[in-house]
Amino acid sequence: MPENNARRSALEILEKQRQFDLTLAEIDDIEGFDAFLGVETGEPVEPWEVLEADDRTLENNSRYSPTPVRTVRAALTAAAVRHEEISFVDFGSGKGRVLLIAAEHPFKRVIGVDFSSELCATARKNVECTVRNPPVRRSPIEIHHQDAREFAIPDDAGFFYFYEPFSAAVAAAVLDNIEASLARLPRDAVLCFVGSSLLTEVERRGAWAQSGDTLASPDADYYSTRLYTYTNGSAGERPG
Ligand SMILES: C[S@@+](CC[C@H](N)C(=O)[O-])C[C@H]1O[C@@H](n2cnc3c(N)ncnc32)[C@H](O)[C@@H]1O
Repeated sequence: MPENNARRSALEILEKQRQFDLTLAEIDDIEGFDAFLGVETGEPVEPWEVLEADDRTLENNSRYSPTPVRTVRAALTAAAVRHEEISFVDFGSGKGRVLLIAAEHPFKRVIGVDFSSELCATARKNVECTVRNPPVRRSPIEIHHQDAREFAIPDDAGFFYFYEPFSAAVAAAVLDNIEASLARLPRDAVLCFVGSSLLTEVERRGAWAQSGDTLASPDADYYSTRLYTYTNGSAGERPG
């Protein structure tokens, strides 16, 4: 019966998510990032648990689940950028784990954008915590409570991080904003995509070329990372 099929696939999805969360918790335990810094970035948050949840966000926005620490570090290490000249943006920054790790590099600013007020509050608390208990912090961190589509791309933004934050429709609007900023003020820029759900959206545009090979995640296959540089459609070469 169709109802049974729907029930079965709902249960399969829940079971896959449970396994995913268990794997992430094991990875997090080994890394010990939260315990070391006295922060809380590990616990997932479902989209319907967020205060701002409505039909539109439930359709477009993903759950909070952090990128494993080693995966973020591997992506940051592989990106050939001049940190001092650019700001870093994490679209869908959640509890701020990626921000804390990016700030180990000397970016002009590290900026997080998240539509959830509660997740932004947790991220601010985590940032505060590391001010009192500092890791190697080399750049200032800002957190913007905003839908990613509404975020005005700063003129110095040059590293854009995405870990499966939202639907392809939202990603298209965000990428339009990034490309408009780059057209207005031409500069080098890197997109970093962890996971695979938004790759079709980037690759169909022709303005971005993958740089280097896909980075196999040190943690699990589904965290593999791709870096793209802005070409403005010019045969894989950066403008200028
Ligand atoms: C998979 S988590 C990634 C968290 C963080 N970037 C990391 O890698 O550790 C996705 C995050 O995107 C946020 N998000 C979803 N849709 C959004 C939107 N339209 N605008 C801003 N943030 C959004 C969610 O609240 C969630 O915190």
